[in-house]
Amino acid sequence: MSPDGEERERGRSLSDTAMVGIAVTAIVVVVFAGVLTGYLVGHNGRSSASSSAPATTSAPAVPQDVAFGAHAFVQFACAQCHGMRGAGGVSPDVPALQSIAQALTVEQLSSIIEHGAGVSTNPEKPFMPVWHGIVSKHQISALVAYMKAGFPVVAGADALTVPTNQGDAVAGAVLYQRYGCINCHGPNGLGGVPNPQSPDLTVPPLSGADFHGEFDTPKKIADVIRSGSVIGRAPIVSMPHWGTILTDRQIQQLIAYIDTFS
Ligand code: HEC
Ligand code: HEC
Repeated sequence: MSPDGEERERGRSLSDTAMVGIAVTAIVVVVFAGVLTGYLVGHNGRSSASSSAPATTSAPAVPQDVAFGAHAFVQFACAQCHGMRGAGGVSPDVPALQSIAQALTVEQLSSIIEHGAGVSTNPEKPFMPVWHGIVSKHQISALVAYMKAGFPVVAGADALTVPTNQGDAVAGAVLYQRYGCINCHGPNGLGGVPNPQSPDLTVPPLSGADFHGEFDTPKKIADVIRSGSVIGRAPIVSMPHWGTILTDRQIQQLIAYIDTFS
């Protein structure tokens, strides 16, 4: 700003002081009225509001790391295996987390998320994926904060809804996000997510000549989605086992979407 400009600013600020005072008073009055109205409405309308509005909109505020953890729990499909808010009920092979999270220490929880829970060499049922290098340390600590806070309701931390009657490719595209395939195989199945200690060095793409050469029938693709693939122990990231978690129909829809990559 030029010296002239500063001069004008200073001159104006003096005469503006009174105006500012009035404005501040007005704002305080308006804010107070707003808070009072909100309080009264909240009090009188509580029971009807909570039954008509979605639960998430009336949820109390939670600390930011807890809120971030709640969103990560959906984004990385923890919720699709362990149930929304860790309540279980998805597959007999995946435990509910609500009481387990209270029993385990912060270190134990962090380590299970990063390195898995001990992977069998030939998994015939779902196992806890290894997330090392995929879920960041920052995100792991937010996930643990969320679990330790008792899985509170957090606005917007909801799984995507799969549209019906828009075709298998559309349903598959949404499932690809909802079940977190995108976190490992990348957008549009482009692959390239680092998996440094695996033979391929990256999580494989779901498109291209190599993929179509090896997985040349829908059945072969369905089989690997169902069974997963254990290519080693932590810190190697493996293909999770989705049998008993995804239905045959959902797997078919995912394959229809994967077909659109070619
Ligand atoms: C593909 C399904 C699947 C996904 C996705 C998944 N888990 Fe798991 N998780 C399991 C299974 C199965 C177990 C039980 C241990 C085992 O068999 O490996 C488990 C175990 C756990 C445990 C230890 C429970 C115990 O009994 O000690 C924690 C904590 C946990 N998962 C948290 C998470 C978090 C957080 C995420 C998301 C980042 C997540 N899980 C994603 C399947 C899954
Ligand atoms: C935790 C990371 C992770 C997630 C989540 C994941 N995958 Fe995989 N996936 C892998 C890895 C690693 C491989 C390679 C396995 C191997 O080489 O044995 C793989 C292999 C595959 C393959 C065979 C391709 C190949 O070249 O081996 C298909 C198909 C596939 N995944 C589909 C899916 C679908 C569909 C989802 C979501 C329902 C999904 N994946 C979720 C890590 C993941």
